[in-house]
Amino acid sequence: MLLPKKHRNICIIGAGGIVHDAHLPAYAIAGFTVVGIYDLDVDKASALAAKFGVPHVYSTLDAMIQAHPDAVFDIALPASEIVSVLQQLPEGADVLIQKPMGTHYAEAKEILRCTQAKKMNACFNFQLRYAPFITAAREIIDRGDIGKVYDIEVYVNVFTPWHLWSFMHGKPRIEILYHSIHYIDLIRAFLGNPEGIYAKTVKHPSMHELASVRTNIIMDYGDMIRANILTNHCHQFGYQQQQSYIKFEGTKGAIKINMGVLIDYPRGVPDKFEYVIMEEGRKPEWKELPVEGGWFPHAFIGTMSQIMLAAEGAIEKPEMGVEDALYTMACVEAAYISSEKGSVKISDIL
Ligand SMILES: NC(=O)c1ccc[n+]([C@@H]2O[C@H](COP(=O)([O-])OP(=O)(O)OC[C@H]3O[C@@H](n4cnc5c(N)ncnc54)[C@H](O)[C@@H]3O)[C@@H](O)[C@H]2O)c1
Repeated sequence: MLLPKKHRNICIIGAGGIVHDAHLPAYAIAGFTVVGIYDLDVDKASALAAKFGVPHVYSTLDAMIQAHPDAVFDIALPASEIVSVLQQLPEGADVLIQKPMGTHYAEAKEILRCTQAKKMNACFNFQLRYAPFITAAREIIDRGDIGKVYDIEVYVNVFTPWHLWSFMHGKPRIEILYHSIHYIDLIRAFLGNPEGIYAKTVKHPSMHELASVRTNIIMDYGDMIRANILTNHCHQFGYQQQQSYIKFEGTKGAIKINMGVLIDYPRGVPDKFEYVIMEEGRKPEWKELPVEGGWFPHAFIGTMSQIMLAAEGAIEKPEMGVEDALYTMACVEAAYISSEKGSVKISDIL
């Protein structure tokens, strides 16, 4: 993975769960310097600053901007807060923003407009693209070892206690907007933009207070490529039969990545990276590749690096820049529309 030569100072906006679990641990591993943190809840920001050695806690966003106008602003807030915070940041700022890009497509376009009007170097934190197991898969695929990829499947059958996060109650969009969005973005990173989306997302009988939490998505890349995402977050029958994997199939081989982080949540199990390269006249032989680091927190080094690399001119713009992220949001929107439109009715056929 390409890393920045010059580390920029980081200012974090939002001191919630993801900053505690992933942003700050990742930056500590990478040796990035966090100079300040701001949250509406000052006590929360102070506790986080004390735990991770962040030198300054600010009680207003403006005070943090005045103190560090040239920092990378690392936004980790509810999606509904993004636009108003962007409006307060300086012209030309370097900004990394937690996904999703707004709560729906119209908001995503508003975010894009705002970052373009202010000529920002801005991107979204679609960090699964930089998980060490994805970097390893990219290397194998880029070398041509498994040939041309014609099949990507993401399969998730786990128990995610969505109902415990009370802020999700009553929200119209949950699973695709907050979870499958990672897989949509990942598949786009490998196959480009799909022609369209078919989807069905459904609720669960024991989670009445929540919108849909189980999803099937087909990303349409024509008649030779299959790209499917299947998620069931409601497998409440112990971890023994839980599964969570990403599988690539190509003309010369295949890769299967078992993602451990979602299994037996929140404990998790180790990831496993296996691949097979077909050889003429020989039986397929699957091999295991040891991969250091996981999706959380190591992938978060990759997204922050993209912003710093673009800031120092080593790359033209971040891979998951706002223009690119808008396509992922368009796919999310298409998935919800497809699900609402519903199926071809058998009664129309009979
Ligand atoms: N990339 C990932 O894998 C991933 C994982 C989890 C969460 N997220 C995203 O990160 C974001 C934050 O999630 P979280 O789990 O940390 O949420 P959280 O509820 O734990 O924390 C959000 C924090 O934002 C603060 N806040 C809210 N509005 C604010 C404002 N206007 N100004 C300053 N502070 C404000 C709250 O006080 C709270 O401390 C969400 O958008 C979520 O979708 C991404």
